[in-house]
Amino acid sequence: MAEPRKISFTINGMVRDGQAEPRRLLADFIRDDLGLTGTHIGCEHGVCGACTILFNGAAVRSCLMLAVQAEGADLRTVEGLASADGQLDRLQQAFRDHHALQCGFCTPGMLMAAWDLLRVNPTPTEDEIRTGLSAVLCRCTGYQGIVEAVKAVAGQRHAAR
Ligand code: FES
Ligand code: FES
Repeated sequence: MAEPRKISFTINGMVRDGQAEPRRLLADFIRDDLGLTGTHIGCEHGVCGACTILFNGAAVRSCLMLAVQAEGADLRTVEGLASADGQLDRLQQAFRDHHALQCGFCTPGMLMAAWDLLRVNPTPTEDEIRTGLSAVLCRCTGYQGIVEAVKAVAGQRHAAR
């Protein structure tokens, strides 16, 4: 096994240090070393999207990245969406309101992908939402509730403008 390397990064607004051997996956590091098990691992080869997190603000599949790539990066996982007092982010609340989850396995990845979609395009059409979330697979919901939840948040943003 190769020597572990030190890494320093920010995750969910907190500066953290860690050590990882060069081949260690970022998804495993987040779950096992940092204890942030909200990030799920489904396929472990870039297909299902369950492991999606924000890396320097953009959605990435953490099973396709190495932990050492987090050096100096700003990471956000699903645990970082709610406020410190536990109040849900409005995207989380919209998922709740629109029955956008059943087993919940895809939900962390879906939330992070939706977050990135709304960052890039704050007022997406339904087609744009479906395309934007197409990289995350859900085996339960039929996607309609998820699309409705994202539409609701996009609508709020539209109204706020
Ligand atoms: S676990 Fe990363 S894409 Fe499936
Ligand atoms: S809610 Fe079960 S996989 Fe999406």
